Amino acid sequence: MSPKTGQGTVGSAITAEHLERLRSAADEARANAWCPYSHFPVGAALETVNGQVFAGCNVENASYPAGICAERVALGAAVAAGARTFTRVVITSAAAQPTPPCGICRQALVEFAPSLDIIAVTPDGRMASWSLAELLPAPFTPASLENA
Ligand code: THU
Repeated sequence: MSPKTGQGTVGSAITAEHLERLRSAADEARANAWCPYSHFPVGAALETVNGQVFAGCNVENASYPAGICAERVALGAAVAAGARTFTRVVITSAAAQPTPPCGICRQALVEFAPSLDIIAVTPDGRMASWSLAELLPAPFTPASLENA
């Protein structure tokens, strides 16, 4: 699979092979999504500066607000494994248009990776990319708590 469209503002270039590895990790996790309420499976592959990849899928709950997005599942897995510095995340869904991260996930990610590259890919190869700074301007970060 190679991206058909590439609108993007990601900070660093990524080769087609590299993107394919991350897309495949995200899709593998997406296959395990637990989403009986939304029927909207999402996968995320979060890459560290060292090239480690942590994947996540959305995990919904009968108590709807207890559900968690794929991106935060991937982030939690990474942090639990000791990883804290990330370069990019690839998000996959079955939607016709690339799926951007929700607002809560943007906030969760900015804690660790203010300049994260975010790449969203659809099954037919549509792609969109953004920097996290672009999707979450004027973020609330650990620095915002200083001198409170
Ligand atoms: N979802 C994600 O996992 N990531 C996103 O980037 C957008 C939304 C999930 C949450 C919920 O389980 C389902 O998709 C529908 O909103």
